Amino acid sequence: MGKSQNQAVFGDFQTPFALARDVAVFVAHEECNIRTVVEPTCGLGSFLRAAAEIFGQSATYFGFDINRDYIGSARAALREVRGAAGHVECQDFYQKDWKNFFSQQSATVLILGNPPWVTNAAMEAMGGVNLPEKTNFQRHGGFAAKTGKANFDISEWMLIRLLEALQGVRSAIAILCKTATARKVLRHAWLNGLDVGPSSLHLIDANAHFGVSVDACLFYTHTGIDEAEATATIYPGLSFGRPLQTFGLFGGELVSDIDAYRALRELDGLEYRRWRSGVKHDAAKVMEFRREGAIFVNGVGEEHDLETDFLYQLLKSSDLANGRLRPSRYVLLTQHRISDDTALIQESAPKTWRYLIDHAEQLDARGSSIYANRPRFAVFGIGDYTFAPWKVAISGLYKSLRFQSVGMAEDKPIVVDDTCYFIPCESKAEATFFSDLLNSDTAQRFISSLVFSDAKRPITIDVLKRVDLKKISERVGEEAKAIKYLSSPALESCHQRLLVFEKEEKYRIG
Ligand SMILES: C[S@@+](CC[C@H](N)C(=O)[O-])C[C@H]1O[C@@H](n2cnc3c(N)ncnc32)[C@H](O)[C@@H]1O
Repeated sequence: MGKSQNQAVFGDFQTPFALARDVAVFVAHEECNIRTVVEPTCGLGSFLRAAAEIFGQSATYFGFDINRDYIGSARAALREVRGAAGHVECQDFYQKDWKNFFSQQSATVLILGNPPWVTNAAMEAMGGVNLPEKTNFQRHGGFAAKTGKANFDISEWMLIRLLEALQGVRSAIAILCKTATARKVLRHAWLNGLDVGPSSLHLIDANAHFGVSVDACLFYTHTGIDEAEATATIYPGLSFGRPLQTFGLFGGELVSDIDAYRALRELDGLEYRRWRSGVKHDAAKVMEFRREGAIFVNGVGEEHDLETDFLYQLLKSSDLANGRLRPSRYVLLTQHRISDDTALIQESAPKTWRYLIDHAEQLDARGSSIYANRPRFAVFGIGDYTFAPWKVAISGLYKSLRFQSVGMAEDKPIVVDDTCYFIPCESKAEATFFSDLLNSDTAQRFISSLVFSDAKRPITIDVLKRVDLKKISERVGEEAKAIKYLSSPALESCHQRLLVFEKEEKYRIG
């Protein structure tokens, strides 16, 4: 296996010694009684050597790695420090009984290191040679598992495993990882009542140290200390000076800035208008087009003469985030509702049907199980709401929290893709009203307090659902207008109506 493939499968980015030493110095400043140091995926041994130089003979050192070629170097790294006693062994992380191992060590145990930087999905794509036994450990089910929410970093899995094995053991954990990984691990620990003590994230420049551009940190946490609090503070570097912000668990969900959230907490309320995702088709080269006069050019440059009945102008995340509201592409939507029989296209739009048949190979090969047992050429994320004349929409993928009013083009509604979220609206006035509310300073501050900008999808439906449009309208003095729009559940089923403006306490959770 070549070096780059090795990196992809084993997440192999060796830590420069200078960084390992800085981490060890930082930890030594905070911890006074380290008796055991464990590097669970020690690689060439930078952390073992750095720790041994700092903690010397007062601790015993253990290093493990799956790559046999590294073991000699790691042993040598440890031997460079005179008097350092330890044990370095070739070991697959997944095969080790960590609980049993920790129960035999002297506390305080320090877990130091840098586990693999790779996701299960990336590894599976490479042949899946370095995966734990099949485990949906975050308990994602159904749709989440199908649409990729169950994709996780291997280091996330390893850290949770270590935390579980360390329950009741006095330990400090200082691990380099993605900030998103540290956050997900803490969320899991807090939600599952694991014993985790004071926790912090200390940002590091992953580009400078590893040549990869990800948001990364030293994740520093503890077990076996009776100081459980479901918050963690982020610092710009390896110190406790100048905190950036504190995130934590609030009402069963993470918020990114506890202080800002507390100040605006009353805006965390009801979903008065239902948020929707844009359309999904999983075949951009076939289903998306540029228009050249009367001709539609698909993603592989083929020119086609098609009826316009099933073609809609399309905005994507990058368009919304950059304020480009004039669409430059079209999307072929074969259905209005998920139950629509696509075979009817054959009669109503024969050229479109011919096009679909000619590209059936790509369309039939769409892997996602959301297309199974659905009409041939079906699309997803479709319903009356998709065809609402106006929408207030936002990209899920960008840090920008700007909401856009999206209207009609060529007498048809503009649609957004599945990386975007929107509220369907009946008029321009309604869309403008909601986008103004959501872009108000109050709403933006509240949404920022929930959003983690380093996440792959900073804006999610879960975040948007929490933004109480009625409360915001009160804050900005627009309650009268809000009554009009929040009481008219545009293109939604009528059960929404009863939530509005009365008896809301009944629906409030927590
Ligand atoms: C990001 S590198 C870091 C290496 C070392 N911790 C350091 O900081 O320099 C990740 C290491 O994890 C090792 N690794 C990957 N999968 C493993 C597994 N299943 N069990 C043990 N080690 C593993 C790789 O061989 C690699 O040395």
